[in-house]
Amino acid sequence: MIVLSLIVPFPITGAYVDANRSIKLFVFGDSYVDTGNRDSTARSWKEPYGITYPRIPAGHFSDGQVFTEYIASRMGIKSPTPYRFRKLRPIKYGMNFAYGGTGVFDTLVAAPNITKQIDLFEQLVQEKIYTTDDLKFSTALVSASGNDYGIYLARGGSLEGLPAFIVSVVNQLGSDLQRIHDLGVPRVAIMGIQPLGCLPQFTKEYSYEKCNSTGNLVALFHNLLLTTMVEELKPESKFVVLLMYDAFISAMKKFENETGDFPIFM
Ligand SMILES: *[C@@H]1O[C@H](CO)[C@@H](O)[C@H](O)[C@H]1NC(C)=O
Ligand SMILES: *[C@@H]1O[C@H](CO)[C@@H](O)[C@H](O)[C@H]1NC(C)=O
Ligand SMILES: *[C@@H]1O[C@H](CO)[C@@H](O)[C@H](O)[C@H]1NC(C)=O
Repeated sequence: MIVLSLIVPFPITGAYVDANRSIKLFVFGDSYVDTGNRDSTARSWKEPYGITYPRIPAGHFSDGQVFTEYIASRMGIKSPTPYRFRKLRPIKYGMNFAYGGTGVFDTLVAAPNITKQIDLFEQLVQEKIYTTDDLKFSTALVSASGNDYGIYLARGGSLEGLPAFIVSVVNQLGSDLQRIHDLGVPRVAIMGIQPLGCLPQFTKEYSYEKCNSTGNLVALFHNLLLTTMVEELKPESKFVVLLMYDAFISAMKKFENETGDFPIFM
């Protein structure tokens, strides 16, 4: 919670005037924010996912809460209903269109990429499920936390080709953010990438004791381009980048300081 208050750089609480009409959160992206859109064959519906919160597997790719739930809670609203449950649960807190394992471009997971997720949102706006008025005090949270790069490497893409690929991911992401904004969501927060080289798949080569510097450089380059791109989008609008890289490093540093374990720095 303390970390979040540092990294959410604009006030997102108490913005609504009509008591009957809640402020809303619309969520797009991957497993860092998905709260149950993948079907029951996905790992997120099996233990150990969900065992800390909500104590049974519930379609979140975490044993506890995912980022959506922290953000919704700081906005003072309930976590928005996953798109898959839109006919069963309240939609007044917004909606979650994120699918774990997906990316800006298609990945190996057969679920909607971010473009397609925005199509689903657009459809609800066209059907007036959410009116312009409903969207007036809404915020979007977008997570593109590296599946595109994981798939790029898994498909045998070269390290030399990575910078150009990162540019294409960030450019596509820029159009996605602009599109969400143009559909009527005034504030759009995009999560930067966490230190990718500290994910278990990369630390395995160092017996989980050190991060892979190439992975972290990919994340840093992505974040640099993302920040530059967001600044150029529309200076008068409320686009923000959430500094996930710094938040992860600060949490890891704290852990290292407290335990003497995991000297992560390269
Ligand atoms: C997203 O998925 C759709 C298929 O559902 C595909 O046609 C489109 O090219 C994809 N978009 C990107 C940016 O990869
Ligand atoms: C990091 O990971 C990449 C991709 O798996 C690998 O090519 C590289 O050798 C690893 N180590 C370093 C120090 O970059
Ligand atoms: C490191 O840990 C010590 C004692 O556990 C604490 O006093 C200090 O503030 C910590 N430093 C950082 C940078 O977290």
